[in-house]
Amino acid sequence: MSESNGIEKLIQPHLAGFTGYSASTSPDVLKGKVDVSTDDIVKMNANENPYGCSPRVLKALAACQTFNIYPDDGQQQLRKMLADYAGVPAECIVAGHGSNTLIDYLARLFVGPGDEVINSVPTFDIYRFSTEICGGTLININRDGNFAIDVKRIKAAIGPNTKLIFLATPNNPTGNIIPPKDIVEIIETGLPVVVDEAYYEFSGETVMPLTTKYKNLIVLRSFSKWAGLAGLRIGYGVFPPRIASYMMAVKIPHNVSVAAEIAVRESLADIDYLQGRVEAIIKERTRLYNELQKISWLKPYPSRANFIYCAVLQGNAGDIHLKLQKKGVLVRYFDNPLLKKSLRISVGKPAHTRALLKALRNI
Ligand SMILES: Cc1ncc(COP(=O)(O)O)c(C=O)c1O
Repeated sequence: MSESNGIEKLIQPHLAGFTGYSASTSPDVLKGKVDVSTDDIVKMNANENPYGCSPRVLKALAACQTFNIYPDDGQQQLRKMLADYAGVPAECIVAGHGSNTLIDYLARLFVGPGDEVINSVPTFDIYRFSTEICGGTLININRDGNFAIDVKRIKAAIGPNTKLIFLATPNNPTGNIIPPKDIVEIIETGLPVVVDEAYYEFSGETVMPLTTKYKNLIVLRSFSKWAGLAGLRIGYGVFPPRIASYMMAVKIPHNVSVAAEIAVRESLADIDYLQGRVEAIIKERTRLYNELQKISWLKPYPSRANFIYCAVLQGNAGDIHLKLQKKGVLVRYFDNPLLKKSLRISVGKPAHTRALLKALRNI
């Protein structure tokens, strides 16, 4: 037996064979494998902001002289800035290296072997990822044909070992929101309910005001999408104060970089600019949706986020995805029993829509 097999036996049994999270393809790995140069790749596969971040962020980062100093582990200023933006007390806020890591910390805090987490599938795969890493069991409740959650079945699935309920609104990859009354009905079960609003700025829908009323409601947000900071990794959550203290305790020290903190400050000082970009993306989402509807073999679903989910009615979605990739247009491809063979297309600039449509028509 090789040395690595020797130590492999010592891996936690619940992680043996763990498959991880399948992230979107990065243009760097496609160099030489597609018909265009890396710079000309049209990236519509990870719901990133095609306009980039605020120019104020770039300027402030270039001027920063303190990258040699650790950021404040207590996130004092950061929590205050985020609290002002979210309209909640600073003691409720915890920031993370992307909102992904806050999902992971929540799982650390609430989930252990034997515990159950209720999930409404298809949805964002990190809920599964973090639950399984902590040894928990995912209770998957199917959404309906239009991807609405099934409140009745969610409530019926609650048992003595239920520790968390995840709800993404808008949902990734399907783009639909959850009606607030459904969210309230689930919150009223009293269990910790995590409402993931990573795409809030595109939907305009939030349950944030309910955080003062319900002590079991947690709301997660991200700067990756609306503020164009996916590469800097910054997200935040609003928690009941006692849970926020625990989150601060279980998080990795200095989990938000000095650069990310600067980026938050400058983004929040440039809200009007960023809001203008969000509005341009929302406008382009309508145009893209209308154009996709004209393609007979695609069925786009209405979206409140910065991407459009499309069922592929004819042809092989996997082949289409690869052919688009070869032409330098990256979209997200799904092949699983719930999503069947389908594509998720991030909303880009008008020129990106044109490149995508041209590639789709020439397939
Ligand atoms: C529903 C949802 N939640 C959370 C995230 C994570 O965002 P972040 O970049 O802040 O980790 C994403 C990213 O795609 C998402 O789609």
